[in-house]
Amino acid sequence: MPDAPASLLDVVPVVPVVVLHDVAHAVPVARALVDGGLPAIELTLRTPVALDAVRAIAAEVPEVLLGVGTVLTPAQADQAAAAGAHFLVSPGATPALLAGMQATGLPFLAGTSTVSEVLAVAEAGLTEAKFFPAEAAGGTAYLRALAAPVPGVRFCPTGGITATTAPDYLALPNVGCVGGTWLTPADALEAGDWGRVEELARAAAGLRG
Ligand code: 3PG
Repeated sequence: MPDAPASLLDVVPVVPVVVLHDVAHAVPVARALVDGGLPAIELTLRTPVALDAVRAIAAEVPEVLLGVGTVLTPAQADQAAAAGAHFLVSPGATPALLAGMQATGLPFLAGTSTVSEVLAVAEAGLTEAKFFPAEAAGGTAYLRALAAPVPGVRFCPTGGITATTAPDYLALPNVGCVGGTWLTPADALEAGDWGRVEELARAAAGLRG
């Protein structure tokens, strides 16, 4: 496992959000992303194979900083931690979910899309959060408006962001990185086209605001 970073937001400019339907894709996808220059990923708990995929990556690609996303309950936070997650990501931030993620002892990004949710995360002692669903919730204009009243929280926006729009987000002072699924298109995974995943990762790794 890589050393825990000071901030999850400063490891890579783009965190690949990965949805796997076949556990056999887990290790080659992770290797392609690392080879393309993105050594941190978020593997989502949206498919039945997700926890097996986490175990496979944790065992075989130890250089990856491995996040587990779409954590909806404290039980899922525990399962992700037990499977080998290095950090957790949730789409929302209820008090129970915040407490459940905190109880794992792992770093995490809780999802926020309102000022009150951002303040709840800050009250829990956190200085970074996910902003989700970024485009639908107000995009760069919303994040820019948040920076003045709530300067102490930085974000990883995800949801609807593309290679084209990512630089606009990365240019904001309260954005450390963005996340998205565009690096691991379903058809590339289906075809085992790891070279394409690596190329998409390389392009994203070079993105700056
Ligand atoms: C997430 O969970 O962060 C989002 O589903 C990202 O998905 P998208 O990049 O396809 O919008």
